[in-house]
Amino acid sequence: MSTTFTLDTATSRANPTPKPMRRLTVPAIQKRKGGEPIVMLTAYTARMAQLMDAHCDMLLVGDSLGQVIYGLPSTLSVTIDMMIAHGAAVVRGSYHSVVIIDMPFGTYEASPEQAFASAARIMAETGAAGVKLEGGEAMAETVAFLTRRGIPVVGHVGLTPQAVNALGGYGARGRDEAEQAKILADARAIADAGAFSLVVEGVVEPLAIAITQGVGVPVIGIGASAQCDGQVLVAEDMLGMFDRTARFVKRYDDMAGRISAAVERYAGEVRERAFPGAEQLYSI
Ligand code: KIV
Repeated sequence: MSTTFTLDTATSRANPTPKPMRRLTVPAIQKRKGGEPIVMLTAYTARMAQLMDAHCDMLLVGDSLGQVIYGLPSTLSVTIDMMIAHGAAVVRGSYHSVVIIDMPFGTYEASPEQAFASAARIMAETGAAGVKLEGGEAMAETVAFLTRRGIPVVGHVGLTPQAVNALGGYGARGRDEAEQAKILADARAIADAGAFSLVVEGVVEPLAIAITQGVGVPVIGIGASAQCDGQVLVAEDMLGMFDRTARFVKRYDDMAGRISAAVERYAGEVRERAFPGAEQLYSI
């Protein structure tokens, strides 16, 4: 049975305090290469983090919050302030998982120094364990710059949503040999530069397997392969909050249907003056 948590303004922690668990660390995740699969989901709010934390190894505050939370058409207009606000909430709501925060478009590509300033702000203002950034060989120097300065980095190659305009859409990548070679080289470059893990999104399965076998860090797949070292999905997708999702999403629930049914019942009871009932009312 779920517990209702409120945020204690004195401590910024959930009240009652969820049973504290020792938080996993970046080196512990790194050691999972080729071992027990890593479970990762996106989380954007403290409450969702509380609900998912005990079942996950990593929580990703993805810039997909642009579409999922803010109704934006893509991730491109997500700001660093949005990522920090949601990232801090997820850190407050979790005790076990490694929390990683996406660096939004435009906050890291210009130079390693720009990336360091953005990443340092994200880490300092949220308490997250690391950041994720998109891109291959072109971002390797930046990944090396960050990791040498103590910022754990997760890379993201294959289908990189921040590059949607350059890619021409969200279709799967690596359908021809030249593109497969390019994405494999991207993955190797980011891993060699010091990323402690890699997200590989939306690639043909043989390429996902080749990347998993070809780099020394855990590869977390989304639309990739069950042979990867772990899996990530957008939580709202796998919970069935949306009518349309990508082919690679498996729906584990129908939250949209259940929310709609609950709200329909509430609306009916309000209209019939059946809510609030005696149990919800205060007596003198
Ligand atoms: O933004 C996000 O949610 C992501 C995952 C889809 C990997 O990057």
